[in-house]
Amino acid sequence: MRGKFITFEGIDGAGKSSHVEWLAELLRQKGLVVRVTREPGGTELGEKLRELLLHSSMHLETETLLMFAARREHLAKVIEPALARGEWVVCDRFSDATYAYQGGGRGLDRAKFQQLEHWVHGHLQPDLTLLFDLPLDVARERIVLASRVLDRFEQERADFHERVRQAYLERAHSAPSRMRVIDAQQSIEDIRKLLEKIVSSICL
Ligand code: TMP
Repeated sequence: MRGKFITFEGIDGAGKSSHVEWLAELLRQKGLVVRVTREPGGTELGEKLRELLLHSSMHLETETLLMFAARREHLAKVIEPALARGEWVVCDRFSDATYAYQGGGRGLDRAKFQQLEHWVHGHLQPDLTLLFDLPLDVARERIVLASRVLDRFEQERADFHERVRQAYLERAHSAPSRMRVIDAQQSIEDIRKLLEKIVSSICL
């Protein structure tokens, strides 16, 4: 049987990444084989593209094409083979991030996003997307507290991140059966209870 594909999304500082490994472990305890991965990245080439995308300045369309190039490689080498083997794939970000960051944040023409999405993975969408949502000021505070070198996206101004947040919410609204919005201001325990409930009801 084909495995399930679960993605995590949210603005920078939403805290999603700390739940990715936890969810994978929960699924493993249920006897599933789980592959954890991320975008941009997830393959040797994809990780090289990630370095460029996070730290080198480039034209918006170049940025978008590189995101989708890394994704094509990731799908071909990692995601599609794992799903075909019956493994579950838990991925930290996928195409909803391109919709939100390059589309909402930077203003990429939506028709161009749709063309690329259709070309790269028209036949495949996540079975479930968990969107971690929280007010911008709380997310910014978390990033500042992490006190590390910020990447190109984290360095963007508040209005960019607000547009990213709104684009994510709009996307979730248009795909309610696939995307679940998680209030990321809840305690870690409450978030984990909710994740377990959502994943069990949808995927197990
Ligand atoms: P991360 O910090 O969650 O690993 O993600 C890296 C950054 O890349 C994050 O700021 C969002 C950005 N990004 C895009 O702009 N478009 C995309 O398609 C993806 C996957 C990530």
